[in-house]
Amino acid sequence: MKKLFLTLGLGIVMLGAGQTNPPMTPEQKALKDTMKSMADGLMRIQEGILYNDRETLLAGVRSLKRVQEGYLTKHGEALKKYMPDNPTFAMSLAKKSEMDIERYVRMMREDIFSRHDYSNIAAGYTHIVQECVGCHQKLRKWRWEK
Ligand code: HEC
Repeated sequence: MKKLFLTLGLGIVMLGAGQTNPPMTPEQKALKDTMKSMADGLMRIQEGILYNDRETLLAGVRSLKRVQEGYLTKHGEALKKYMPDNPTFAMSLAKKSEMDIERYVRMMREDIFSRHDYSNIAAGYTHIVQECVGCHQKLRKWRWEK
């Protein structure tokens, strides 16, 4: 009997955990994967800047470039869910961020290949981070409680 209660209890706990954390839809998973590869690219860019390592820097730029073609707008359906009251805004934010990030990536490549200017490269990096954070604040409504 004791064992039965224990099993029952565990079942309820697991059910509860399942409810707070519903399984990801394929759209959510795809969005997360894109985000992860962008974060990976950014980290490489930072490492490249800090260690004066051009190859790592270029690898980072490449991985941000690879996710370029509609890399945010293609997740439109998943993104809209973050702003059910204003899905149009979610989409236009995605489009604008996409264009801005693309422009900064292009500028960064120019700085790496022709201007060789580390301050400009670092500025490009900062601009991109601001694009990421801008959307996370607006769409994900990220902030600390206190
Ligand atoms: C158009 C909006 C938007 C932009 C721009 C954006 N993100 Fe995100 N990001 C999101 C949303 C929405 C999530 C939440 C995804 C989820 O957990 O379902 C997210 C989640 C993430 C996560 C967490 C993924 C995980 O596994 O939990 C990382 C890391 C991330 N973004 C990195 C970035 C980086 C790096 C950039 C910039 C190069 C960026 N994001 C730009 C909307 C955006």
